Amino acid sequence: MCGIVGYVGSRDCREILLKGLGRLEYRGYDSAGIAVLNGGLHVAKCAGKVRDLENRIAVAPPTGTLGIGHTRWATHGPPDDTNAHPHLSQSGRIALVHNGIIENYTALKQTLTAKGRTFQSQTDSEVVVQLIEEILASDPTLSFEAAIRLALRQVTGTYGLAIVHATEPGRLYVARRGSPLLVGLGAGESFVASDATPIVEYTNKVVYLDDGELAVIGPGTCEVRTIDDVPLTKEVHELALSLDAIEKGGYPHFMLKEIHEQPRAIADCLRGRLLPGGGVQLGGLSTVLDRIAQAPKLTIAACGTSWHSGLVGEYLIEHLARLPVEVEYASEFRYREPLLGDHDALLAISQSGETADTIAALREAKARGALSLGICNVVGSTLARETDAGVYTHAGPEIGVASTKAFTAQVTALVLLALALAHRRGTIDREGAATLADELAAIPAKIAAILAQEAAIKMLADRFTYAPNFLYLGRSFNFPVALEGALKLKEISYIHAEGYPAAEMKHGPIALIDRLMPVVVIAATAHTSDKMLANIEEVKARQGRVIAVTTPGQHEVKRLAEFVIEIPETLDALSPLLAVIPLQLLAYQIAVNRGCDVDQPRNLAKSVTVE
Ligand code: AGP
Repeated sequence: MCGIVGYVGSRDCREILLKGLGRLEYRGYDSAGIAVLNGGLHVAKCAGKVRDLENRIAVAPPTGTLGIGHTRWATHGPPDDTNAHPHLSQSGRIALVHNGIIENYTALKQTLTAKGRTFQSQTDSEVVVQLIEEILASDPTLSFEAAIRLALRQVTGTYGLAIVHATEPGRLYVARRGSPLLVGLGAGESFVASDATPIVEYTNKVVYLDDGELAVIGPGTCEVRTIDDVPLTKEVHELALSLDAIEKGGYPHFMLKEIHEQPRAIADCLRGRLLPGGGVQLGGLSTVLDRIAQAPKLTIAACGTSWHSGLVGEYLIEHLARLPVEVEYASEFRYREPLLGDHDALLAISQSGETADTIAALREAKARGALSLGICNVVGSTLARETDAGVYTHAGPEIGVASTKAFTAQVTALVLLALALAHRRGTIDREGAATLADELAAIPAKIAAILAQEAAIKMLADRFTYAPNFLYLGRSFNFPVALEGALKLKEISYIHAEGYPAAEMKHGPIALIDRLMPVVVIAATAHTSDKMLANIEEVKARQGRVIAVTTPGQHEVKRLAEFVIEIPETLDALSPLLAVIPLQLLAYQIAVNRGCDVDQPRNLAKSVTVE
């Protein structure tokens, strides 16, 4: 979950590298650094963010037409100047940046130390650059590329690497195993990055590297071979990404922009897929829909917010298509010797398409013969390229670390999948399908109506900015929304928050309730409203502060709750798409009030590409 950039061409690369790192900071922001080749290798790096690095080099900015850069999320070694990337070999003639985890770095470091190599940092990454140099020193007849290849054969773990050698002024070397890397091809210049956001303003022509590949990048050229030195011909893709899509667009934070983009994101996710009368056209799944419909069950694997949307998917698919669904934490699923076979299907859900545990779960399911499916937001991501079939959410780039539009777009895709399966399995009639389709088509406008309450929700946030804890309660389709609301709050405001199925409160959490405990109660589904009333009474009886997210018709809920956020009526199955919006805004505003770094919360990164 670090960010890597590289440039080789005719322009001065410093600004290109720094701007690119700024676009990748959501992947990690403990420390940052660049290495520029100009005669020798000039390395500038420091703990902190890219702007700290810019301040550090302002006095004597390195210049050159070849360079690499890195923004770090620390895995081995604290985030300080020494552990920041790039790392130099002992001679100072090789510089390297790394995203991933070298699992056998301790053994390699011991071997290299025994050979007299000295290390500057505590990182696993530095072992790779020292190993490359040791291999070159042991056989000077080797090419630099061959030495890299030999080094990587000794390495276990994951890497995305960009490497430069002081004696090769026109060459960037990049390699990939488990951490994303793509190459942008411009006119007489080339770019390397962990994703497309640093590249899109210079070129829309990209080559995606796959695991086990090593590429030699020149100005406008890219030669790819396998780690076993087999030449490859890689497809050059055209990026659909636009520059303004990755700018803040006048919002103070990406997260707020992305919250407000949800009406458009859902409309884009539905476009061409939701047909009049309730038909569904999911092109990416058309060849496998029958196989999914006939599977004994559908397993969903994901992490974090995507796991929450998977839980909504379980309620949706079982409710509409009567197909058994099991939702798994990807990190648990992959180690459980899962009971999947040729007739099963696994759906991996991931905004980034690069979450290591989710990809590992997908590979585990594929190895057992299961059909592998994906719901993903990033075109060309690892998950998108490794699944048998899938659905893109078309939500546009999500830069804020806290996932918002990705969640609602994932749920939208899951509604479409559930409806498509219901048609295949004959569990929905024409009227039911048409009603669901009409309600789904109305969701973007209903979200816009909730967003119009932003000021009222801010006033509510102002009252609870310094609450020490929060409890979120929901039932049925909105139990996952309670989990999601709690995650949003804790990950950007650092307030401890828990989500629970509302009935579970009596089995322990009710002991937490006192007048200092705000309890967000999602009472937005008709079929659970009576029981939610009982829960609200139980909270009030213990002086808990009830914040109800509810619909206009829930008069008793509104009478009992201390604070009310109204959301429009919709079908119970679609209520998560609406109930989550106030919770996103509440978390956002509380975090802003607390002076937290909303887009780059401490200790987090947008894409968890390490296990
Ligand atoms: C959600 O707000 C968090 N940023 C995090 O839980 C995230 O959902 C999780 O890391 C999964 O990411 P993915 O969807 O890209 O796989």
